[in-house]
Amino acid sequence: MNCHDRLLIIDFGSQVTQLIARRLRELHVYCEIHPFQKVTDAFLAEFAPKAVIFSGGPASVIDKGSPRPPASVFTLGVPILGICYGQQVMMEMLGGKVERGHGTAEFGRAYVTPTEERLDILNGWFLDAKEQVWMSHGDHVSRIAPGFEVFGTSPNAPFAITADVSRRFFAVQFHPEVHHTPNGKTLYANFVREAGFVGDWTMSAYREQAIAAIREQVGDGKVICGLSGGVDSSVAAVLIHEAIGEQLTCVFVDHGLLRQGEAEQVVTMFRDHYNMPLIHADESDLFLNALEGVSDPEVKRKTIGRLFIDVFQKHATAVGGAKFLAQGTLYPDVIESVSFSGGPSVTIKSHHNVGGLPERMGLKLVEPLRELFKDEVRSLGVELGLPPGFIGRHPFPGPGLAIRCPGEITTEKLAILRQADAVFIDQIRRHALYDEIWQAFVALLPVRTVGVMGDGRTYDYACALRAVTSVDGMTADYYPFTHDFLGETATRIINEVKGINRVTYDITSKPPGTIEWE
Ligand code: XMP
Repeated sequence: MNCHDRLLIIDFGSQVTQLIARRLRELHVYCEIHPFQKVTDAFLAEFAPKAVIFSGGPASVIDKGSPRPPASVFTLGVPILGICYGQQVMMEMLGGKVERGHGTAEFGRAYVTPTEERLDILNGWFLDAKEQVWMSHGDHVSRIAPGFEVFGTSPNAPFAITADVSRRFFAVQFHPEVHHTPNGKTLYANFVREAGFVGDWTMSAYREQAIAAIREQVGDGKVICGLSGGVDSSVAAVLIHEAIGEQLTCVFVDHGLLRQGEAEQVVTMFRDHYNMPLIHADESDLFLNALEGVSDPEVKRKTIGRLFIDVFQKHATAVGGAKFLAQGTLYPDVIESVSFSGGPSVTIKSHHNVGGLPERMGLKLVEPLRELFKDEVRSLGVELGLPPGFIGRHPFPGPGLAIRCPGEITTEKLAILRQADAVFIDQIRRHALYDEIWQAFVALLPVRTVGVMGDGRTYDYACALRAVTSVDGMTADYYPFTHDFLGETATRIINEVKGINRVTYDITSKPPGTIEWE
C-alpha cells in the first residue's frame, strides 16, 4: 500500500534494532525492519529501498554461517549505513578484515574524535571536539575495505567511523540509535538527507494513504471489528469507519469485568458520537457464571479468552456476510525478531486480547495500524479527532478486572474493586499525575483483615494500589507517590468504599514482579 520512499533496516538480531526505526520515524522517514533471513535478491528488488541500514547483532562475522545480507545490496546504488555488526559485515564482504576482541572489546560509553577528513553525514558532530557514543562490541574491524576512509576514532575502535564516500557506504562501530549517543539522531538525519528522503511521513499523509488502501482492500465487502475500548482497536475502528462508513460493524464484548462506567463510555462514544453500527454484547452473566469457583489465574485467562471468541463469533455471524475482520495490530507485534537461540520462551501469562481471534473464522484481516508504533497510533487518533483524554488512556488488559481480583471472582468483590479503583484513578487525576503513569489500578486481595471504625470492629477486604512507570510494559518500576498522596488515597478508599478496611501500596518492579497481579 505504500507510495512513500522506503528505507530498509536489515535486522541481524540487535537488542536495539527497533530504536533505529524509532529514530527514523521521528525524522518522518518511512522504514521497515526485516530479518536478514528474509532479505533475498528478489525481496530487495520488490522492496526497492531508497537507503538501507544494517543493524547490529550478537553474532561474529568470523564464525562460519554468520548472518549476511545478499551481495546484491551493494549494487543497488543506494546509501547504506552499517552499525556495529553491520559495520563488520560490510567490511568483511567488501574486502576488509574483522578480528576477535583480545582486549579491544568495548561496552558502554566511549568518545570518538574526528580525523582530518570531513564527512557530510557528520555535520553537527564534534562541535565539542569529541562526541559521546555507545559501544557494544567484542570483535573489531582490523582493516577497512578498499575505497573506505576513516572519519572518527575512539581509543578502542580506530575505525569508529568509516565511509566509502563515492559509493555512499557508511559504517560505524557504535550505536547511534541509543540514548547514550546523544548526537545520534543528527547522524541519522544527515544520512536520510544524503539518501534523498524529504521527511514526508506524517500522520495526515498516513491517514489519506490508509483510507485509500482500506477502500481498495475491502471494496464493497462488510467488515467487523472487535472493539475493546482500548486505544488501538478504537483508532482502527474510527479510521476504517472513515474509509467505508456503514460497511463496518463493531462488536463490543462486555464481559462484565470492565471498570466503572467503561462500557457506557465506549458505547456513547462510538454509537452516539461517531454514529457507528455497534453491537453491545452484554454477556456478563455468561462470563461470571463460567468463572464461578475459578481461582487459578491461567484457568481464568483461558476461560475468558475462549468465551470471548465464542461471543464475538456469534455476533459476527449475526451481522451476516462479513468477509473481513479488522484488528488494531501494531508494528511491534508484526516484527519478526531474529532469534539465534531458537528455544521456546516460557509462558508467563496467556495473554488475551481482541487481536487473538482464531484463523478458523475464515475472515480476511484488515490491519490498518500494522506499520505504526504506539505513539504514532496516538498521533493518528488525535488526527482523527478522538478526544485527547481517550487517546492517553492507560492500557487495560483483555481479561479486565478478573486478573485484578486474585482468587475467586464474585459480583460483590467486583463491585468493591470498581469503586476503589475509581477513587484511586480520581486521586491520580486530581493530583495531575495520570499522564506520568503508565498504568494504575487497584487489586482486591483475597484476604480479610480486622480493623476498627468508629467504635466497632470491622472485618473487611484489603486492597493493593498499583501504579507503574514503563515505556513498553516489558519492564516497569513502581511510581514514587508521596506519603501524603498515599495517605490521602488510603483514607478516601476506606471512607468511601464499603468492604475495604486496609490499603497497601505495591512497590515491586517488573521484573521480578509483573504489572498485573495475575
Ligand atoms: P504484565 O502483567 O504481564 O502486563 O506485566 C504487561 C502489560 O500487558 C497488559 N496485559 C494484557 N493485555 N491482554 C491484554 O490485552 C492480556 O491478557 C493482558 N495481560 C496483561 C498489562 O495490563 C500491562 O499493560
